[in-house]
Amino acid sequence: MRTQVIKPRIREILSKELPPERVSLLPKHWVQIGDVLILPLRPELEPYKRRIAEVYAQVIGAKTVLRKGHIHGETRKPDYELLYGKDTVTVHVENGVKYKLDVARVMFSPANVKERVRMAEVAKPGELVVDMFAGIGHLSLPMAVHKGARVIAIEKNPYTFRFLVENIWLNGVQDLMTPYNMDNRDFPAENIADRILMGYVVTTHEFIPKALSIAKDEAIIHYHNTVPEKLRPEEPFATFKRIAREHGYDAEKLKELVIKRYAPGVWHVVVDIRVYKR
Ligand SMILES: C[S@@+](CC[C@H](N)C(=O)[O-])C[C@H]1O[C@@H](n2cnc3c(N)ncnc32)[C@H](O)[C@@H]1O
Repeated sequence: MRTQVIKPRIREILSKELPPERVSLLPKHWVQIGDVLILPLRPELEPYKRRIAEVYAQVIGAKTVLRKGHIHGETRKPDYELLYGKDTVTVHVENGVKYKLDVARVMFSPANVKERVRMAEVAKPGELVVDMFAGIGHLSLPMAVHKGARVIAIEKNPYTFRFLVENIWLNGVQDLMTPYNMDNRDFPAENIADRILMGYVVTTHEFIPKALSIAKDEAIIHYHNTVPEKLRPEEPFATFKRIAREHGYDAEKLKELVIKRYAPGVWHVVVDIRVYKR
């Protein structure tokens, strides 16, 4: 995943083909996931978008170019326009972990890279991690690959799940990770997890009772949620603590980090929480 500054060669080629005032609007930054580029393009560049995409792809060496859209819905699907190439499935390597995904249909956020790296650092060999919103294994693959943590990875979207399964094999952690294609609310086991990943936003609090039932009597929960600036720093931990108490658990906040800006005045944060059965 790289965000870069425009290459002189791109400008050189396109300045012969575009009006000068449009050349100055060419994107200076883009995101590269494997060999797929995500290019933010201003509306003024609409008439030239396919040629611009072709030149960026050729100079940078990408097979496919997508125009940046938004991520929405319960399953966090991105919304992209295909500008160049056909194949949006790629393998992205980050921190020694291979992530195969369909960039056009599965979320992979550049801004979450620090958290993916941090999860590899906090995991402990042999502990049991339950990843309740596994995606393609974004957060839990690093824990198995780098630390030998055992992982139960739950993902309900069947298309995303296919990549999760492939990634487990691609990274050679099939003896450590067990994937389940189901809604985490239907996951039957109780009192098993040393650590729980709740990598979800907006309505994560609705899943706290389920997380507590999966947790051992003492466990660590990495609780993600979105929170308006004006409610920080009390939220989102205050709500977690209240719900935990209602279910017979004490909760201790260990750490809180901002992942990224989610919307104007709203942050995506992660809180590391130790829970104890009372
Ligand atoms: C935003 S992605 C997060 C991926 C990863 N945890 C991260 O933080 O980078 C959330 C994933 O959770 C899945 N999901 C949403 N609700 C779920 C549920 N109730 N049970 C299992 N998976 C769910 C979605 O399909 C999606 O792939």
